[in-house]
Parts: sequence; structure tokens; C-alpha cells
Amino acid sequence: MIYRYFGNSGFKCSTIGMGTYYDMRWIFKTYIGIYSGKAAKIDAIKSGIENGINLIDTAEFYKTEKLIAEAIKDYKRDELFIATKVMPTHLSPKSMEKALNRSLKNLNTDYIDLYQIHYPNYAVDLKKTLKKMEDLVDQGKIKNIGVSNFNLKLLNYTVEHLNKHKLTSVQLNYNILHRNVENEILEFCKKNNIALMAYFPIAHGKTLGNEKLNGYFDYIRNMIGDVPNANISLSYLFSRNSNVFPIPRASNKDHVMQNIKYSNTVLDEEIIDYIEKTFK
Ligand SMILES: NC(=O)c1ccc[n+]([C@@H]2O[C@H](COP(=O)([O-])OP(=O)(O)OC[C@H]3O[C@@H](n4cnc5c(N)ncnc54)[C@H](OP(=O)(O)O)[C@@H]3O)[C@@H](O)[C@H]2O)c1
Repeated sequence: MIYRYFGNSGFKCSTIGMGTYYDMRWIFKTYIGIYSGKAAKIDAIKSGIENGINLIDTAEFYKTEKLIAEAIKDYKRDELFIATKVMPTHLSPKSMEKALNRSLKNLNTDYIDLYQIHYPNYAVDLKKTLKKMEDLVDQGKIKNIGVSNFNLKLLNYTVEHLNKHKLTSVQLNYNILHRNVENEILEFCKKNNIALMAYFPIAHGKTLGNEKLNGYFDYIRNMIGDVPNANISLSYLFSRNSNVFPIPRASNKDHVMQNIKYSNTVLDEEIIDYIEKTFK
């Protein structure tokens, strides 16, 4: 497993994290107390931790914070980097305070390593939200400030309006088939020492193969050996960029172990170039 500094956090995270958004069915069922496949999901997360993954992503919306609390209870808290997100409807200072306290309770922890605005909400003054997040850092309830689904304009605004603490990360849709962030956002992130957490890093499973893509993957396999499509996809992200941390969903132990097995597969310039020219 490769570890890299996560933006300006001072924390070294595994280049591959674990995402914990399952699906809307999971979310709805939690409201009636049903947690489908909970034991297997916890097992997947624990296997990830035991085999070197220290970056775990959740959100109040996902209804997986309690499950993570259970999965991490036997491990050293300060060796894990737990990221959660606040819903766009909770961005006023008062709502954020309540939402954060709920997340802390759900996660059974005194602090959150990374608190992210899940989506922007144009009805709430972002300056006030950012000020509140800085206060929460000062209180020690959160260690780092992050955002998600922000465009370049909003990212610029955020960087400019944080006064005491820096923006640590942005979470965006980034995979081998969806590379918009490569136009400008990645450059901006590098310049400002901001980590990019890549969601949908294996394109929701789409990179796993249609005939055309399989041909491209086979060409790459001829050069690097027998690496599955999903793992070539993950490797592309962290090989091309030293500040990108893909967070594939971790609900299945076999997939988590597979992602760990290939987490040291770094692609060279020639393959990165090939991917950029062929995968669309
Ligand atoms: N900020 C946002 O707005 C936002 C939006 C969406 C997602 N996210 C975050 O990003 C994470 C990842 O996104 P995602 O789960 O939707 O997409 P994804 O990770 O690209 O794809 C998930 C699919 O890939 C499968 N998978 C994982 N590892 C695999 C492997 N090695 N081989 C084959 N299949 C594999 C998963 O199956 P199994 O589950 O069976 O392993 C699942 O079906 C989420 O869990 C969440 O934490 C954030």
C-alpha cells in the first residue's frame, strides 16, 4: 500500500480509501431499523483496515456512520482518517453544529478527521458556513475542512474565504471514463495542496468491461501483466496524480482485498498516455 500526505492535513493516507455509500434501498431501510448485509459490510471495512487502508469516507446522508463506528471500534482511532459529509440542508451555522454532533455520536468519536460540505447550497451564505467550519476546527471537533461537488469557481471562493484554516480536500466524480477534473481543477488542487478524493473511481462498475474497453485493457495487460480492469482504473488515478485518493465502495471483502492486492501497481507515463488517448 502506498501512503501519501492527504492535502495539507499532515496525515498520510492510503492512496486507496473505502467508500461507504451503498444505495437508496439501504438508506430507506435504515429508517425502519433494517441494515441489510451489515455483518458482511463491517467485515469488508475491517479487512480493509487490517490490510492497510486508513481512509474511510461516509456522509450523514449515507446512513453508514453507525456501521463505521462498529467496524473501527477495535482499531486505534488516531491511525484512521475518517471523513464524513454534512448535507446541503444543514449548512447554516446552527444546523451544522447539530449535524456535526449527530455525526460524532453516530461515529462514536470525539473528532472527525475531515468534515466535508456534501453539495453546495446557494440559499445559504457560504462565507458563514466556512466561518462555522473554522470554528469547529478551533474547537477540535473537526481536524480538516473539505468540500464535495464544488466547481472551480466555488473552490476559488472557498480558498479565498477561509481565513484561519486551509481547504484540505475536494471530493469529485473522477474515473478513467470521466476526466473533466483534468482540465483545470487538478491543477488548482496541486497549486493549493488540496487532495482530490475521487468518487465513482471505477465508474460505478462500468469500467469492468464492454468489448471495446476490454480491448484497451487487454493492451495494457500485455505491458503490465494480469491486472483486472477495476484495478487498472484505480491505478490510473493515483499514478497520474500524487494528490488523488480514489475511494471505491467497500461492501464486499473480496473486492476490498482485490483493491489492496493491486494498490502498488503504479502505471508509467506510456500507459497513462495511452489511457488518455483511448479511453473516452
Ligand atoms: N461526494 C459525492 O457526491 C459522492 C457520490 C457518490 C459516491 N461517493 C463516494 O464514493 C464512493 C464510491 O462511489 P461508488 O460506490 O458509487 O462507485 P464505484 O466505487 O466507482 O463503484 C462501485 C461498484 O464497484 C464495485 N467494485 C468495487 N471494487 C471492485 C473491484 N475490485 N472489482 C469489481 N467491482 C468492484 C462495487 O461492488 P461491491 O460493492 O460489490 O464491491 C460497486 O458495485 C461511495 O461509496 C461514496 O463513499 C461520493
